[in-house]
Amino acid sequence: MNKIIILAALSILGITACKTTVRQAPDNAEKNLNKRVDSVLVLMTLEEKIGQLNQFSGDGELTGPVALRPDLLKSIRDGKVGSMLNINGAEYTRKIQKIAVEQSRMKIPLIFGYDVIHGYKTIFPIPLGESASWDIEGVEKAARVAATEAAAAGQHWTFAPMVDIARDPRWGRVMEGSGEDPYLGSRLAEARVRGFQGTDLSDKTTILACAKHYAGYGNAQAGRDYYTTDISENSLREIYLPPFKAAAEAGVATFMSAFNDLNGIPATGNKYLIHDILKTEWAYKGMVVSDWGSISEMIIHGIAGNNYEAGDLAFNAGVDMDMEGSVYLTELPNLLKNSKITTAQIDESVRRVLRLKFMLGLFDDPYRYCNTDYEKKTLLKPEFLNAARDAARKSFVLLKNDKQVLPLNPAVKSVALIGPAADAANDMIGNWSGRGEGKDVITLKKELETRLGAGKVIYARGAGFNDGEKSGFAAALAAARRADVIIAAFGEAGMMSGESMSRADIGIPGVQEELILELAKLGKPMVLVLFNGRPLILTKVNATVPAILDAWIPGTMAGPALCDVLFGDYNPSGKLPITFPYALGQIPIFYDHKNSGRPGSQDQKYKSRYLDIPNDPLYPFGYGLSYTQFAYNNLNLNASIFTGDKPLEIRVDVKNTGLVAGTETVQLYIRDLVGSVTRPVKELKGFKKLILKAGEVQTISFTVTKEDLSFYNRNNIWGAEPGKFTVFVGTNSQNTIEAGFELK
Ligand code: GLC
Repeated sequence: MNKIIILAALSILGITACKTTVRQAPDNAEKNLNKRVDSVLVLMTLEEKIGQLNQFSGDGELTGPVALRPDLLKSIRDGKVGSMLNINGAEYTRKIQKIAVEQSRMKIPLIFGYDVIHGYKTIFPIPLGESASWDIEGVEKAARVAATEAAAAGQHWTFAPMVDIARDPRWGRVMEGSGEDPYLGSRLAEARVRGFQGTDLSDKTTILACAKHYAGYGNAQAGRDYYTTDISENSLREIYLPPFKAAAEAGVATFMSAFNDLNGIPATGNKYLIHDILKTEWAYKGMVVSDWGSISEMIIHGIAGNNYEAGDLAFNAGVDMDMEGSVYLTELPNLLKNSKITTAQIDESVRRVLRLKFMLGLFDDPYRYCNTDYEKKTLLKPEFLNAARDAARKSFVLLKNDKQVLPLNPAVKSVALIGPAADAANDMIGNWSGRGEGKDVITLKKELETRLGAGKVIYARGAGFNDGEKSGFAAALAAARRADVIIAAFGEAGMMSGESMSRADIGIPGVQEELILELAKLGKPMVLVLFNGRPLILTKVNATVPAILDAWIPGTMAGPALCDVLFGDYNPSGKLPITFPYALGQIPIFYDHKNSGRPGSQDQKYKSRYLDIPNDPLYPFGYGLSYTQFAYNNLNLNASIFTGDKPLEIRVDVKNTGLVAGTETVQLYIRDLVGSVTRPVKELKGFKKLILKAGEVQTISFTVTKEDLSFYNRNNIWGAEPGKFTVFVGTNSQNTIEAGFELK
């Protein structure tokens, strides 16, 4: 009987897969899609509708505190589950899907979701590292690869990109995002959405993306995860919302509401944030899922007395689906009965869920993503591994290279490889590494021995990542004394960043720094290859170690990518997406700060300063060296008075003044000198990557519109204000050349 219901509904509509996306559905496809959705909705009971708004995790990989564990399969059979997360593999997802599609009354397929954050099986650099590439195309390609692998393994939906702006490196989840800047964060959010979703969600290489964690999660006080956020309306609009808006405009299929208490109201129950801004002001048509258990956590926040009140807050705020909370299952019927919510609201949320299932093509073929042969052929394909290697080497940031220690001579006679990260496969894939495995990682040690021959590599671990053990120092120093060159592989273990991994002290952990400094005392050519999920305090090692290469958490192809850069096969081109503080006490520190009324420096009394440290960071936003050098000249604007009726043209000559080809990321910043609110001393408004041969000069042009000069003014109205502006162009946020214009 039931099968007939679905078939009847589908045949009425001439069912075909929806070649559309959440945002750009052309009218007829949109109308057709809505008709199909309504044809199913009309057949559903209230319990079945509410079931679609419920998401449970599989038992295999819990990614949050375990809520009640109902009989999952019975719940699916009873039509009480719309989506599952953490169910992996073509075979396993097929098994679970069969229960929904063949044993429930409505036979509505499940959506399977998973945290595909920086790769599914082939692991790419962590997003913060990938963001250091400033390579929009490359980032999109990485997401494309991740989606292709995930879809082959039965996934329909990734809980990515994480687009939280973060300016406090103590926060562990800074590793998951794109750093401190709204403009760079927005461009990267768009690229990741495009990469995951492609242009047709029914294609078997595309998956739904999810902009998370909406919103302000990265502003956690004291850098402690899940902690309170207090953000002015102006900062919310100027700093934290832009990447979410960019993701929405790029057509992201879903949003995830955040854990944090935002200005007194948890994001998951924040009607202003979800209903007013996202679903009304931005007219967002996608689906909003809560973060894990964040609905019932509003009881712990102290804004709901029980699940009934928490469900009321969340559902009326606009959260459509309840992840691992079981709140909606139990409370929506009562809320409806008590007229706290309406049937129309429930139908609207169910529509948002069903639309996605149609777009994915799941009503045509619920098993389209469950092909084990295709899965085997797809995971870890050589071209995916090559893409991961390319992404990794583009992510590395050369922080220091005194005496041209780098690139190393491939004919070097002996290399001492020291440190806990040298051969730590699991630490190369880090947190949120999906189904990635250490066994597939090529470590720096493995690759060095392959390239140089094991006889030339003198390896000594020297120290652990985070223990106080110094017994390995002697052997490490002995190894270093015997070698021509020292490669020091130190930093954070892969799981020292990520969710609930905040650190109060962001130095190089344990006794590693002590060993690094001892190694530097030997006075040999030495490079510190740093592995980190966040900015670290490097001030001491920076003072004595001649070369420092930031490798972040580089992924499956760590070793090959590192050797490509260390031996000069690839000239490093990364630029910091986040400031590296000079000292912990500077946090939060970021480049687009306000001027204050007393800007100054350490030696100036009655100025904004510290007595004991400089105001400047160790390494600023946008910083990164190359094996060559670039010079900026002839910055000129096509007008000194800008009326806004046509774009302002900005041109600059960039010359490679060194001896080898290199890639430079030319950065454009703007300062609004006087506004109805105080304005940042610089704001990134554009960037361009260019490859220059030795001696080559290129003229780069940017255009600036009135929209680029707009901001939320004193009344939180968006717009540009007449007045003087300064344009800065350069190689990082501190090293620029400038010119002025006036907006009339
Ligand atoms: C976690 C994370 C979120 C993730 C979700 C599912 O708690 O906060 O980013 O997508 O649960 O694993």
